[in-house]
Amino acid sequence: MSRKTYKLAVLPGDGIGKETVPEGLRVLDAAARRFGFDLELKHYDWSCETYAQTGKMMPDDGLDQLAQSDSVFLGAVGWPGVPDHVSLWGLLIPIRRGFDQYISLRPCKLMPGGRTPLANRGPEDIDFYVVRENTEGEYSSTGGRMFPGTDREFVTQDSVFTRVGVDRVMKYAFELAMTRPRRKLTSATKSNGITFTMPYWDERFAEMAKNYPGVTTDQFHIDILCAHFVQHPDWFDVVVGSNLFGDILSDLGPAVAGSIGIAPSANINPEKKFPSMFEPVHGSAPDIAGKWICNPIGQIWSGAMMLEHLGEKAAADCIVKAIETLLAEGGPRTRDMGGNAGTVDVGKALAEAVARG
Ligand code: NAI
Ligand code: MG
Repeated sequence: MSRKTYKLAVLPGDGIGKETVPEGLRVLDAAARRFGFDLELKHYDWSCETYAQTGKMMPDDGLDQLAQSDSVFLGAVGWPGVPDHVSLWGLLIPIRRGFDQYISLRPCKLMPGGRTPLANRGPEDIDFYVVRENTEGEYSSTGGRMFPGTDREFVTQDSVFTRVGVDRVMKYAFELAMTRPRRKLTSATKSNGITFTMPYWDERFAEMAKNYPGVTTDQFHIDILCAHFVQHPDWFDVVVGSNLFGDILSDLGPAVAGSIGIAPSANINPEKKFPSMFEPVHGSAPDIAGKWICNPIGQIWSGAMMLEHLGEKAAADCIVKAIETLLAEGGPRTRDMGGNAGTVDVGKALAEAVARG
C-alpha cells in the first residue's frame, strides 16, 4: 500500500494561535511518523497583522489557495484594534461558507483532572458531541427593515430551513451516533413556540430516524435542554441542533466539560468536496499571548479530529489517549489547569507520548 500524503493549510492567525499551532504540528508530526503517513504543510500568515498591512484578512484568491489542501488547520483569529466582525467575516466565515462546511462539531468530554464547574461530576458523566448546522437556519441573510425612523418601523429576519440543509445535518448526526457505544441522538427543538420551522425540523428528524433503527432518539425544547446540559450531562451522547440552537449548545457543552483551553472543534464538509477546517474553541487570548503559557491541548485535540476526518482514526485515537493519560497521570499542565508548565512543555510531552504509542 502506498504511503498517504495529506496537504495541510496551516493558519496560526493571531495571538496564542501562533503558540498553539506549532505544538499542534509537533504532535501531528509525531503521529505521522508513528502511523506511517506524510503531511505536506503550507503556511499562511493571514491574520489581523496582515489586515493592518494590506487592508485584507486574506488575499482575493485566498479560498482558491486553500482549496488546494485537504484540510485547514487554524489557530485563532481576532486582535484588539481590528473589529471582531472584520476579522471574522474577512477570514473565518468565508472559509466556513465558501467550503460548505455545514457541520460544526464539538466534542464535550470531561478529561481526567479537567475542571468542570458542575459539582460531583467525573469524566464518566460528561462525554458527548454537539452537532450544529453551520450554513442556514436562523442565521440567514433574508429579511429587512421598512419605514425606518417612523412609527411604522419594523424589521424581519427569516429563518431558512431547506430539506437538503436539514436532512444532511441530521444524517451526519445519526451516522456519528452509530459510531458511538451508546448510539443515542438528541434533537434540539422549540416546536412549541416556533411553529413552522421547528415542527419541520422535528418531522425531518422523525423521518431520518426510520433509517437508523439502531439509534435511540429523544428531543427537548432548547430552553429545558440547556438546563439538562447542566443538571444531567450524563443523558447525552450526540446532540443535533439548528444553527442558532447549535451555537448556544456548542458553547455551553464545552463549558460544562471544563477548561476552554482544551476544547477542540471542527467545521466539516463531510463529502470532502472542499477542505474542512479544524480549530480550537478558544480565541486569540490577548491577555496571555506572548507569554507561552497558554494551553495547547485544544489545538492538539483539533489536530486529532482532523486526522480522524482524513481517515487516520488510529492516529487520532492515539492523540486523544495521550491527552487523557497526560491529564490523568499528572503530566505537565498549564496554569488554566492548575499547573505551571509552559505551552511547549505540554506539546513536547504529548508528542513524546504519541511517538511511544
Ligand atoms: P479567548 O478565548 O481568546 O479568551 C477568553 C479567556 O480564556 C481569556 O482569559 C484567555 O486568557 C483564556 N484562554 C483562551 N484560550 C486559552 C488557552 N489555550 N489556554 C489558557 N487560557 C486560555 O476569547 P476572547 O478574549 O473573547 O477573544 C479574544 C479574541 O479572539 C477576539 O478578537 C475574538 O474575536 C477572538 N476569537 C476568535 C475565535 C476563533 O478564532 N474561532 C473564537 C473566539 C474568539
Ligand atoms: Mg458561539
